[in-house]
Amino acid sequence: MNTSVPYIPDNAPFSPEQRAWLNGLLASMFPAAPVSGLAPSGKRVAVLYASQSGTAEGLARKLVKELKAQGHTTALSTMVGYTPAALAAESYALILASTYGDGEAPEGVQPFFEQLCLEHFPCMEKLRYSVFALGDRHYEHFCKFGADLDAKLRSLGANPICMRVDGDVDVDEPFAEWKAAVSAQLNKNDSHLRTVEALTSASSTAGGEQHNSNGNGALSHRQETRFSRENPLQAELLERRKLTAEASTKATLHLAFSTEGGQLKYEAGDAFGVVPTNDPNLVAEILQQLRFNGNEEVPKSNTASTTLHDALLHSVQITRLGRKLVQEYAKRGDCQPLLAILAPEKQAELEKYVSERGLVDLLSEFPGVVDDPADLVRMLPRMTPRLYSISSSPAAHKGEIHATVAVVRYFSNDRERGGVCSTLLADRTSPSDRLPIYIQPNKKFRLPSDPNSPMIMIGPGTGIAPFRGFLHERRALGHKGCNWLFFGERSASSDFLYREELESMLTDGHITRLDTAFSRDQDHKVYVQDRMMEHSRTFWQWLQEGASIYVCGDASRMAKDVHASILKIAAKEGRMSSEGAEEYVAHLKEHHRYHRDVY
Ligand SMILES: Cc1cc2nc3c(=O)[nH]c(=O)nc-3n(C[C@H](O)[C@H](O)[C@H](O)COP(=O)(O)OP(=O)(O)OC[C@H]3O[C@@H](n4cnc5c(N)ncnc54)[C@H](O)[C@@H]3O)c2cc1C
Ligand SMILES: NC(=O)c1ccc[n+]([C@@H]2O[C@H](COP(=O)([O-])OP(=O)(O)OC[C@H]3O[C@@H](n4cnc5c(N)ncnc54)[C@H](OP(=O)(O)O)[C@@H]3O)[C@@H](O)[C@H]2O)c1
Ligand SMILES: Cc1cc2nc3c(=O)[nH]c(=O)nc-3n(C[C@H](O)[C@H](O)[C@H](O)COP(=O)(O)O)c2cc1C
Repeated sequence: MNTSVPYIPDNAPFSPEQRAWLNGLLASMFPAAPVSGLAPSGKRVAVLYASQSGTAEGLARKLVKELKAQGHTTALSTMVGYTPAALAAESYALILASTYGDGEAPEGVQPFFEQLCLEHFPCMEKLRYSVFALGDRHYEHFCKFGADLDAKLRSLGANPICMRVDGDVDVDEPFAEWKAAVSAQLNKNDSHLRTVEALTSASSTAGGEQHNSNGNGALSHRQETRFSRENPLQAELLERRKLTAEASTKATLHLAFSTEGGQLKYEAGDAFGVVPTNDPNLVAEILQQLRFNGNEEVPKSNTASTTLHDALLHSVQITRLGRKLVQEYAKRGDCQPLLAILAPEKQAELEKYVSERGLVDLLSEFPGVVDDPADLVRMLPRMTPRLYSISSSPAAHKGEIHATVAVVRYFSNDRERGGVCSTLLADRTSPSDRLPIYIQPNKKFRLPSDPNSPMIMIGPGTGIAPFRGFLHERRALGHKGCNWLFFGERSASSDFLYREELESMLTDGHITRLDTAFSRDQDHKVYVQDRMMEHSRTFWQWLQEGASIYVCGDASRMAKDVHASILKIAAKEGRMSSEGAEEYVAHLKEHHRYHRDVY
C-alpha cells in the first residue's frame, strides 16, 4: 500500500526546476510520513535518471514499476533541472546515470553535478542511495559520470545501500543484478538495512573495480535489437554516392546498407553504429617501424589471443593519441620532450601535440621504445564504433538503412590523414561489400506523437540526416503536420545535400518551409540561426501552434548558437525576460517539444 506523501507528478504544469524544488520541499516536510502508511518495509524512494538517448530513463521507469509492486512509494525524476537540495531531502535515492562526451554527464545534467561539487554544499548523511552507471567500455572513461557521482555523494556523507554497478552496452544483465541487490536492501526493515560503505570504499578507489559487466555478446542489448556492437550484423553496402559536387571543399556521402531481410529494425530518429577497421597501409607502416612481422601473439581478451596485425587492424585506435598513452610511452622510453609537455601547466602544448599526431608519429619521433607487441596493444586505446544518424525511413525505404557521412580528411605534421570510419566508408569499402553494423536506438529523438503536429527541423551539414528520415517517414505514414526545415552548408552550388529531393518536397507542399544558409556564398558567414532570427515572428507563431523543435549536427558550435537563438526568439517575440525565455525553453524540453541529436 502506498503512502500519502505528497509528490508533484511528472506531468504537473511546472518546469523541471520548479518540480524538483517543490518535491524537495515536500520531502523535507513529510519525512516521517512513509513509515506508518506503507507495507512493513515500504519506503519512499526517489528514482533519478541522467540519460541522453533514453536507456537510463527506460530502466528507471521499469525500476519504478517494480518498486511500486514491492510496496514502496516512488518519485521518478530526470536529473535535468534537479537540485542537490532536493536530493539531500530524500531518504532513499536510486540513480541511473549514463556517461557522454569525454566521460561527462549527459546533456543538461552537468549543472546538478556542479552544484553538488560546490564547496559549501551541505552533507548528505541522511541519504541512502545507490548508483547504476551506464556506459560503453570502448570509451576511455568507462561509466565515469556514474562513478564521479557515486564518489561525490559518498564524500558528502551519503550512505550507499548497495555497491555501484557499471553496465556496458549489454545492459540487461548488470541492471538485473543491481536491481536485485537494491531491492533486497530496501525490502529489509530499516533496522536491518545495512550500508555497504566498507565494501564500496574499497571498490571505488580502484576506479572501476565495481561489479562491471562487459556483456558476452550473446545477450541482446535491448529486446528489439538482436545485434549489438559486440554482435554486429554484416550488412551489405548497396549504394554509395557523393552528395557534394567535385568542386566542393568537402566530401559528404550518401550510403545505403541492406537491413538483411529486415534483421536490423530501427525507427526514424535512431542512429546506427559501424564497427570500423583501420587503414591496412597504416598498419603495415607501423609494423615496419616496429620491425615486427605482425604474426606476434597478443592478448585479445582475458581468455583469447590474436596476432599483432589483427589487433592493430581491428581492436585499437592507431590514429589518435591521448594523455594516458603519451604518458606511458614517455615514461617507458624516458622521452624527455614528451615528459616536459606532460607537466600540468603544459596542457595546451600536449593537446596541440596529440591533435596533430597518431601512433606513427610517436614511433618515428621516439623510436625503440616498444619491444613487446603485447605491451603496445595494451597501451593503445580501444577502437570505438562510430555512430551515424539514420537518414532513411523504415516506412519509406523498406529493407534499407541510409547514412549521410562527411568524410574526415586533414593534413597535419607533414602528412595527409583521414578519419578511421569515414575513410573506410569512402575509400576502403565498395558496394556489395559487407560491414559490421548495429542499431543504436535514440528514444528521445522521435517524431511528434500527434501526426498533425508541426515540426521545425534545424540540421546544417550532416545534421540533415535524421530530418530526411523524418520527412520520408511522415509522408509514408500520411502525417499531415507542417514541416519547416532549416538547412545550412558551405555553398549552394556544391554542398546542397539532397537538393532535388528537398526541393521536390517543397514544391509538392510536404515541406511547408525550407530556409537555407550557405555560409560561404557571400563575404560574411550566414548560418541557420541567422535565418531563424530573420523569421523569428513566424518561428514564434509555429511554437504557439504547438510546433516541436529538432536540432541535429555539430555540438561544439552550431547547437549552442542555435540554442541561444531560440532563447532570443522567445525573449523577443514572446516579450520575455531572459529568465522567462530560459523557463519557456525548459518547458518545451520538459514537454518533449525540443529535441537534440548533436555530436
Ligand atoms: C549520435 C551520433 C550521430 C552521428 N551522426 C553522424 C552523421 O549522420 N554523419 C556524420 O558524418 N557523422 C556523424 N557522427 C560522427 C561520426 O560518428 C564520426 O565521429 C565521424 O564520422 C568521424 O569518424 P572517423 O572515424 O571518420 O574519424 P576519427 O578517426 O574518429 O577521427 C576524427 C578525429 O579526427 C580529428 N580531426 C578531424 N579533423 C581534423 C583536423 N582538421 N585537424 C586535426 N584533427 C582533426 C579530430 O580529433 C576528430 O575527433 C555522429 C556521431 C554521433 C555520436
Ligand atoms: N571541431 C571542428 O572544428 C569541426 C569542424 C568541422 C566539422 N566538424 C565536425 O565534422 C562533422 C561533419 O560536419 P558537417 O559536414 O556536418 O558540417 P559542419 O562542419 O557542421 O558545417 C555545416 C554548415 O554549418 C556551418 N557552421 C559552422 N559553424 C556554425 C555555427 N556556429 N552555427 C551554425 N552553423 C555553423 C558551416 O559553415 P562554415 O564551415 O562555413 O563556417 C557549414 O555551412 C560534424 O561532426 C562536425 O561536428 C568539426
Ligand atoms: C557521443 C557519445 C559519447 C559517449 N561517451 C561515453 C564515455 O565517455 N564513457 C562511457 O562509458 N560511455 C560513453 N558513451 C556510451 C553511453 O553512455 C551509453 O551508450 C549509454 O547506454 C547511454 O545511455 P542513455 O541512453 O541513457 O543516454 C557515449 C555514447 C555516445 C553516443
